[in-house]
Amino acid sequence: MITQVLVLNGPNLGRLGIREPEVYGSASFDDLAELCRSTGRKLGLSVEVRQTDDEREMISWVHEAADARMPVVLNPAAFTHYSYALRDALAMRTAPLVEVHLSNPAAREEFRHTSVVAGVADGTVAGFGLVSYQLALQAIAELAAEAGPARSPGPELEPEPGGTAP
Ligand code: DQA
Repeated sequence: MITQVLVLNGPNLGRLGIREPEVYGSASFDDLAELCRSTGRKLGLSVEVRQTDDEREMISWVHEAADARMPVVLNPAAFTHYSYALRDALAMRTAPLVEVHLSNPAAREEFRHTSVVAGVADGTVAGFGLVSYQLALQAIAELAAEAGPARSPGPELEPEPGGTAP
């Protein structure tokens, strides 16, 4: 069964290509979306890419992903640094979550050093431009593959005859 993945992007990321290209690169948001979809195809994932400048809309997508048990790659953009509402929504997730950034926030202004989202994610990929998204999708593919058969407790979780369960 093909795994559906949402790649969600927060405020100002729709302006990639014209937005501070020295920080975020010259690729457009459409380029990013196409790269995510083609990377997904190679990894056996069906990828849908969305962007919003609106916190309410972003939270509604996170709820949708949780209800559908869908993995998420998330670039929360500036929401990363202050949106407790987004963090609370993500804490309800039911599938893998990878936080992603084009730039390396840890090497930038101090306000970018805090991520309120990182603590509820499986991991974070930052600083590699569009490649950050490719790495994040690879991580999602691995996590989804691990989650598949491991979800139902297999015979290895049964106690050995005369032994104890792990
Ligand atoms: C960003 C980093 C954030 O600090 C910033 O607010 C963004 C983009 C990144 O992808 O590098 O909008 O998430």
